[in-house]
Amino acid sequence: MTRLSRHLLAAPVILVLAVAGATQVPLPKDMPTGLHADVDGLALTPPLGWYPWNMFGQEPQNEALIKEIAAALVASGMKDAGYAYVGPDEGICFSRGPDGRLTSNLARYPSGLKGLGDQIHAKGLKYALYTDAGTKTCSTAMPGTKGHEIEDMQAFAGWRADYIKIDWCNSEGQDIVQSYAALGLAQRAAGRPVVHSLCSWGEGYPWAWAGAIGHMWRTTTDICGPGEADWSRALRIAVANQALAAFAGPGHWNDPDMMIVGMPGLSETQNRTLFSLWCMMASPLMAGNDLRTMDKATAGILTNLEAIAVDQDPLGAQGHIIWNDGDLQIWAGKPLFDGSLAVLVLSPYKTRQTITWEELGLKATDELYVRDLWKHTTTGLLAGGVTVSVGANDVAFLRLSKRNEFPIPPIMVADTYLLSFRSAGVRRETLKGAVTLTNKGTSDLPPWRIDPNSLPPWLRVEVQGGGRVQTFVNTVLTAGLKKGAYHAQVRADNVEPVSGKPMSALYYDVDLEVRSDVRR
Ligand code: GLA
Repeated sequence: MTRLSRHLLAAPVILVLAVAGATQVPLPKDMPTGLHADVDGLALTPPLGWYPWNMFGQEPQNEALIKEIAAALVASGMKDAGYAYVGPDEGICFSRGPDGRLTSNLARYPSGLKGLGDQIHAKGLKYALYTDAGTKTCSTAMPGTKGHEIEDMQAFAGWRADYIKIDWCNSEGQDIVQSYAALGLAQRAAGRPVVHSLCSWGEGYPWAWAGAIGHMWRTTTDICGPGEADWSRALRIAVANQALAAFAGPGHWNDPDMMIVGMPGLSETQNRTLFSLWCMMASPLMAGNDLRTMDKATAGILTNLEAIAVDQDPLGAQGHIIWNDGDLQIWAGKPLFDGSLAVLVLSPYKTRQTITWEELGLKATDELYVRDLWKHTTTGLLAGGVTVSVGANDVAFLRLSKRNEFPIPPIMVADTYLLSFRSAGVRRETLKGAVTLTNKGTSDLPPWRIDPNSLPPWLRVEVQGGGRVQTFVNTVLTAGLKKGAYHAQVRADNVEPVSGKPMSALYYDVDLEVRSDVRR
């Protein structure tokens, strides 16, 4: 059989798998309908960030480590490439007090979990935390949420988490859909929008139902034990995850686990290959290596905006394998927002291959430019196909387009996500502070729109500038306020200018402390 005939057979198989997966779990009647992301606008492209588990395990996670990693994330250029979510995984962060409420473990997190979040937000990063849907977390070091869903989601909102990973350990006898649905409802009731990351390792077929509850769900077992990167296991996970392509899209993502790119034992070639696979699958890009010590090559891989552009494409299609004979894998099925197509060619051996337009579902007569996303070179117009040379365990990561232009979709970076104002009170004051947002993509954005419902009466926000850099000018009016602490979470929305699709909503926090009652 030729590669072309095999490809044409593959599409219906994926469809059958998809339908079979969708009917395996009975859904509770009170389950929210529609996507969770339709409500909060979060994660319309896959979240990017860093999580400690793959490299560190439980020890030595503590405040100092998280802060050092956050600083390295900024210094390495990862923040400028869109990585934002950072925080502890199962790192003995909290315990449950006699009143049933969670309290921070101050021995490990001296600033408290709220204080750590404030420091992360001040750096223009987003705050990620971890818990479990069962009675205890996996190592049993922390309490799970079972029976405490409401107060725990309130605690996470109080700590100002932006992302919550919810594990599935110690959940014997629990109904998985009911358990996660209860957490989803509790999280919505707590009033702080968070990226909700379900972590049942594929148990309960979350791809069939979890989009109504959260934004992403693990599809497989752990990619590695802490500190033990496993190349062949990562490749197997990619193959398992790609079969679920039909279930992913904007705001609801298959998660093949945090990345092992840059972990000890992997070569530069393997790192490049793994990163390409995760981008091709529109996977959440949660780095799992030690950012403080990574070499330039690893940083270069993790910050390759041309690869990230494939992952962050606003259409949100997940690529999948169209050909796999053991010697050669061809990945396609990922149309991009500008009409181009992403294609990934991967081989365990050094090889030279011609990929024809027809096996990619295009016409043989089409004339296309081919961009190499690692070499950063573009061919002239090619008809019929493209010939690529691939080294052992390496990839050719390509973008095909009728135009000799390969735009990068919006990649948003903020200088801060937290504004803190203080007023001595008595006399009324007007205080100003700004949040500057830079789009590291290549297309200018229309002005951000502020959700008026997210603004309290004491706060005005005006969007200034345009194109790539826009500033949210915040004006606080203290007239008539009572002594006390005030908080607002501002929501801003935008659309991606080429496809016109909504972009992920952007939220930032504004704190105001008024030290004594203020005259009108
Ligand atoms: C599970 C998860 C991992 C990690 C550990 C923590 O195994 O899948 O990603 O969070 O728990 O114990």
